[in-house]
Amino acid sequence: MTLAAPVVASRIDRFRPRRYAMTRPDHFAVEYAINPWMDTSVPVSAERAVAQWQALADLYRSLGHTVDEVPSVAGLPDMVFAANGATVVGGIAYAARFRYPQRAAEATAYTTWLESAGLGPVHPASAVNEGEGDFLVCGDRILAGYGFRTELAAHAELAAITGRAVASLELVNPCYYHLDTAVAVLDDDLIAYYPAAFSADSQRLLAELYPDAIIATDSDAEVLGLNAVCDGYHVVLSALATGLMAQLRERGFEPIAVDLSELFKGGGSVKCCTMEIRAAQ
Ligand code: ARG
Repeated sequence: MTLAAPVVASRIDRFRPRRYAMTRPDHFAVEYAINPWMDTSVPVSAERAVAQWQALADLYRSLGHTVDEVPSVAGLPDMVFAANGATVVGGIAYAARFRYPQRAAEATAYTTWLESAGLGPVHPASAVNEGEGDFLVCGDRILAGYGFRTELAAHAELAAITGRAVASLELVNPCYYHLDTAVAVLDDDLIAYYPAAFSADSQRLLAELYPDAIIATDSDAEVLGLNAVCDGYHVVLSALATGLMAQLRERGFEPIAVDLSELFKGGGSVKCCTMEIRAAQ
């Protein structure tokens, strides 16, 4: 008797087309180091970054998503990391306010773009927050990181503006300085995450909230494999995160590998380059 291979139920019916905003890395560079991945002595090619970025934007469109382009601004080499530019949930936009002065002007650029695209008014931020770098929408809940960039006061501000429950999670490892480097939202009640990036209390909270979560290994976390974008079915992530891809397949997702090696030099990957615009429900 031969044993039948386990049948994995495909999550294809969970697919929902999304609207993303992205900024072409025309001015990408590593001119300063504000996270441990950035090394100003390593050469960077803006041309290669643009080609890799274009492949990602084309991929999203081929999957059925809408990609809006935010004009890039000279002198803002990290602006390609659009996830940090604001948080838009249920049609409500909350501005970013960057931790480091080198990125401060990006908040205005994204606010201006959102308002010109009819997605305003953008609520101004009185507390430091780096947009979707630290705010991940997961069903009705917003997971919110703090410890390196976003302040707890911004978690309260976002909760007040959106009326949603915000779960605060403390990041403790500087390599995982934004929540989106340590957590990937996969569905309304499912995430993948890297426990070692969090304090003991936050690890307990994550285990309680997401008992079925995919737990990422060191090697998948170290290539920023969790900095992924999921549309309910496809999971777009770094080609280097091979273990995570296998785990995703076992859960019925379709992982799609991309090469963002040039942007990795800035300390970011797929999700960092992608702001999701969530319309009013
Ligand atoms: N160099 C950028 C910074 O350190 C990278 C931002 C990555 N973005 C993200 N959503 N994790 O601010």
